[in-house]
Amino acid sequence: TRTYVITGSASGIGAATARILRERGHQVIGIDLHDAEIDADLSVAEGRRDAAQKAIELAGGTIDAVIACAGISAPIAKTVSINYFGVTELLEHLLPALRGSAAPRAAVVSSMASLQPVSAELVQAMLDGDEAAALAIGETLEQQGPRVGFLTYSSSKRALSRWVRRQSISEDWAGSGIPLNAVAPGTVVTPMTKGLLSTPQGRKMVDDAVPMPLNGHQDPESIATLLIWLTSEENTHVAGQTIYDDGGADASLRGDDI
Ligand code: NAI
Repeated sequence: TRTYVITGSASGIGAATARILRERGHQVIGIDLHDAEIDADLSVAEGRRDAAQKAIELAGGTIDAVIACAGISAPIAKTVSINYFGVTELLEHLLPALRGSAAPRAAVVSSMASLQPVSAELVQAMLDGDEAAALAIGETLEQQGPRVGFLTYSSSKRALSRWVRRQSISEDWAGSGIPLNAVAPGTVVTPMTKGLLSTPQGRKMVDDAVPMPLNGHQDPESIATLLIWLTSEENTHVAGQTIYDDGGADASLRGDDI
C-alpha cells in the first residue's frame, strides 16, 4: 500500500480520488478547509507550510504520491492563491518527503479553461512566483466584473499547466525520478458546477464553451481514476503532460492544432 496526500479531499474530484484509493487499501491524508485529516487554508503561505508539515508528520516522513485537486472557479483574485500557489508551493514543501519513496509521483488538476483566453501578464506573474503581483492583477480583473474576472481562473490553470511542464523536466522532479503531470477535465458534475448546470441557460453556456461529444458531462470518478494511474507505480515515463480527460472537448476546440 502507498501513502497519498490529496488536497480538496472533502468534495468532488478530490473526495472521489480519496475514496477509491482507500477502497484499494492505500493510506490517504486529505487536506481541505474542513472535513479532512488536515484542515488547512491553502490560499495563504502559512496554511501551505503547516499543511505540508502535518502531512509529512502523519505520513511518518515519507509520502509516495501527491494529488492536488483543491481549487475554486470564482472570478476573484483569491483564485490565483488557491489554484496556483496553493498547488505549486505545497508541492515544493512536500518534495523532500516524496524523495524518500521508492516510487514517488505527483499530479495536479488543471482545466479545459487553460485553453481559454487568459491574462498574459497574470500568467507571467504566477510563473515568476510573485504572489503579491498576481493578486494585484487579479484584483484589477475582479473589479471589472465576472466576465473579465473569470480570466483569473483560466490564467491560473494555464500557469499551472505550464509550471508542470517546466518543472517536470527539472532536477527537482525528473532528476528525483518523480513523474509530474496534470489532468484537465471537461465539465465534471460536482458541487463546483452544480449551480451552473441546474438551469438551462447555465448548461447552454457551459456546453457552448466546453463541447463534450463523448459521453457528455462526467463523474468525478472519471478524473479520479486517471489521477490514480498517473500517480501509480505503473507510470514510469509520462511527464509534464496536461492530459485532457474531457469527452473530446479539447479535440473539438483545438482540432488539428497538434
Ligand atoms: P469542489 O468544489 O467539489 O471541490 C474543491 C475542494 O477544494 C473543496 O472541498 C474545497 O473546500 C477545497 N478548497 C477550496 N479552497 C480551498 C483552500 N483555500 N484550502 C484548502 N482547500 C480548499 O470542486 P471540484 O469540481 O472537485 O474541483 C476540483 C478541481 O478540479 C479544481 O481545481 C477545479 O478547478 C478543477 N476542475 C473542475 C471542473 C469541474 O467541472 N468541476 C472542470 C475543470 C477543472
